[in-house]
Amino acid sequence: MNSPANRTFYIETFGCQMNAHDSEKVIGTLEHEGYRRVETEEDAGLILYNTCSIRDKAEQKVFHRLNEYKRMQGEGKQFAVLGCVAQQEGEKIFERAPYVSLVSGSASYRNLPQMLDRLQAGEQRITGLDDRQTDETFDTEFTARSNPHRGYITIIEGCDKFCSYCVVPYTRGKERSRTSESILAEARRMADQGYTDIQLLGQNVNSYRDPSLRMSFAEVLAAVAALPGIRRVRFTTSHPRDFTRDIVEAIDTIPAICDHVHLPVQSGSSAVLKAMQREYTREWYLERISWIKNATRDISMTTDIIVGFPGETDDDFEQTMSLLDVAGYDAVYAFAYSPRPNTPAITMEDSIPEEVKSERLQRLLTAQRERQRVSYSRHQGQIMDVMVEGYNRQRGQITGRSSQNKTVNFTTTQPILPALGSYCQVRVTATYPNSLVAEAVSVR
Ligand code: SAH
Ligand code: SF4
Ligand code: F3S
Repeated sequence: MNSPANRTFYIETFGCQMNAHDSEKVIGTLEHEGYRRVETEEDAGLILYNTCSIRDKAEQKVFHRLNEYKRMQGEGKQFAVLGCVAQQEGEKIFERAPYVSLVSGSASYRNLPQMLDRLQAGEQRITGLDDRQTDETFDTEFTARSNPHRGYITIIEGCDKFCSYCVVPYTRGKERSRTSESILAEARRMADQGYTDIQLLGQNVNSYRDPSLRMSFAEVLAAVAALPGIRRVRFTTSHPRDFTRDIVEAIDTIPAICDHVHLPVQSGSSAVLKAMQREYTREWYLERISWIKNATRDISMTTDIIVGFPGETDDDFEQTMSLLDVAGYDAVYAFAYSPRPNTPAITMEDSIPEEVKSERLQRLLTAQRERQRVSYSRHQGQIMDVMVEGYNRQRGQITGRSSQNKTVNFTTTQPILPALGSYCQVRVTATYPNSLVAEAVSVR
């Protein structure tokens, strides 16, 4: 049992970057409350599980893991389920897993200190599930960032778009932005601590609306990029509906804003987009792609695609395939449509058989891999800055990341390896569909 003097916790995180960053804030909050993080469930008095329910498989993983935890029930451990499955399933989790004492969705994390007090008092069924209509965001000064050079800042929480297939508006609650002052204050604190690479996060990061009405999203990007010490500003995920030209202009004129846009299209067919309630057409999306392509900088584009949405015909799917050529993506995250609870699409007819979904998925991924082989080859011979992220001693390589978010494995002739988080200039000597090989030109 967790004695007050030796409170320990173990946390496991699934899902998107928002969830990963939420966990950093949860860890910071727990540590501030006197808990110590441990690396295994065995050593922990409190086990937390930060969950994802975007597709059925992700959700099943959670219940699988909870069943595994069952064997530790008798050991006096406490269990908490956080995140999107927690919000979606709510108190039903207590029925499926009676040894769980805390269930909380992300919209309630700002109440975590109070929930932890109740947990310590031995309360059994604590919930944080009623905050989805809140205007408040989870801002905390106790964020335990896992990387000392590159860090996330959530600038907008929740989602109001209600795409017909998606759980997020139900699991993360209403869309709410932080003030630009609070974002910049956090970015400045990070810069002072030595961070050089900041990634602004939101389910739809570019739907950002400053509650203090001072700055547009593009202006926030520019303001973070202008902070002394900041060398790279990234942002994800952008929604086509709110993707404005000034974002491209900001990237084009400010070198510290990374030359990469993740712009999920979901489908290349306007009919499917309509059924998905994406509220844009193929043409609308292509116009935004053309802005990006017409920029002076080579801006890398990546996307998300759902195949096998109810009613998707062969012709609809071919229209999605044709987008791969038009857009020239550097990465495509493609998923077979997964029917989700509470969403309107779950009642739609014309569902696509699983075999067809997986056949379309395979075709798409194979085609994209070939295109990536070509698109990555444009970097052959280029000189670029990479941030050092790790070492592969076996291969004698240093692993880094380019401004476009590409993995670059490089070698150096210097006797001393460049430090983690430092930037090196490299020349690309070989290209693959998912990574670049390079040699260091000079170490700065
Ligand atoms: N807010 C972002 C996406 C967030 S979810 C946007 O609108 O673009 C991440 C990705 O998961 C989505 O882009 C979509 O491709 C995928 N996804 C969401 N719901 C899904 C479902 N029911 N089945 C399959 N994939 C899904
Ligand atoms: Fe889901 Fe659509 Fe919101 Fe993205 S915009 S999180 S896909 S509802
Ligand atoms: Fe998953 Fe929730 Fe993120 S459903 S993808 S953890 S917003």
